[in-house]
Amino acid sequence: MKCRKCGSPAIIHIRRHKSSFCKQCFNEYFLKQIEKAISKFSMFDYADSLLLPVSGGKDSVALWHALISLGYTPHALHLQLGISKYSENSLRECRRFAEKFDVPLDVVFLEKESSITIPLIKEKTSIRICGACGTAKRYWYNRYALKNKHDVIVTGHNGDDLASQLFHAVKSWNIPSMLSTYPVREGRGSLVKRAKPLVYLTEKETMVYVLSNQLPVHLEECPLAQGAWSITEKEMLNSMEERQPGFKYRFLTEFYKHAFPKLTNNAKQENVRNAFQECIQCGMPSAKELCSYCRLVETTNRAR
Ligand code: AMP
Ligand code: FES
Ligand code: ZN
Repeated sequence: MKCRKCGSPAIIHIRRHKSSFCKQCFNEYFLKQIEKAISKFSMFDYADSLLLPVSGGKDSVALWHALISLGYTPHALHLQLGISKYSENSLRECRRFAEKFDVPLDVVFLEKESSITIPLIKEKTSIRICGACGTAKRYWYNRYALKNKHDVIVTGHNGDDLASQLFHAVKSWNIPSMLSTYPVREGRGSLVKRAKPLVYLTEKETMVYVLSNQLPVHLEECPLAQGAWSITEKEMLNSMEERQPGFKYRFLTEFYKHAFPKLTNNAKQENVRNAFQECIQCGMPSAKELCSYCRLVETTNRAR
């Protein structure tokens, strides 16, 4: 297998592009896909202050390294979820990365801030744990970004993540969930703008990027995520991709091109009606009196 661009031995074959790349040409390809997403979706520019939530996993580590290589100076934030060894190892790899590249990393401890952990929510309540964890993550990214005046929250969701979320949402025609797979969401009031620059890249590509660049990374799966719908959806999409290379990419990008603009117009009118208010407890944006995070904390505390 030879690199399509320079003829050196290739380290990866990308079926949807009918291309193989050597290490150097793959790095160039990887960065180009990120630049393409940033510009196509007007995600951010060099004047913006970027908050980069990092888990220590392959996607956020790859994005961290890629943004630095492109000349950005993202401020990394790790949220400690309290999932014993899994969380400890995540934090260790984030710290190793920050030290190696001499870049800033801040850590928010869920337990210190709210006296809860993700395993405690799982133990005490019947709330679906990945959903609860997502609520806590989105809440803390936004709260931290607001407090520290960051312009954009940039996360490491890749194209496979977004395609599986879209597939899941389409199965029940859940339009708000379908719209939330768009790789950029403009800021509104105290909701900070969000961007997902890995939209054009796959899990396999972020994995090859971290391994070939020998980045500190944590490759363990979350022990609480077993049985999560996202795993099944990804397997189903991968089997379609097997038969039709490029299926996942087209599924996602054709949605952005054809359906998203029409659906988003209707949703905008609804949003005017469902304007955000401030959570009466924490002051963060909320659709109801109490935001979903404060409700989560309250439900967990009540069950103790
Ligand atoms: P996940 O929520 O695990 O699908 O991860 C999606 C993205 O969210 C990652 O690429 C990171 O950017 C961010 N992220 C996930 N977990 C954490 C965490 N514990 N702390 C900070 N950022 C995280
Ligand atoms: Fe959130 Fe596993 S990382 S439930
Ligand atoms: Zn609140």
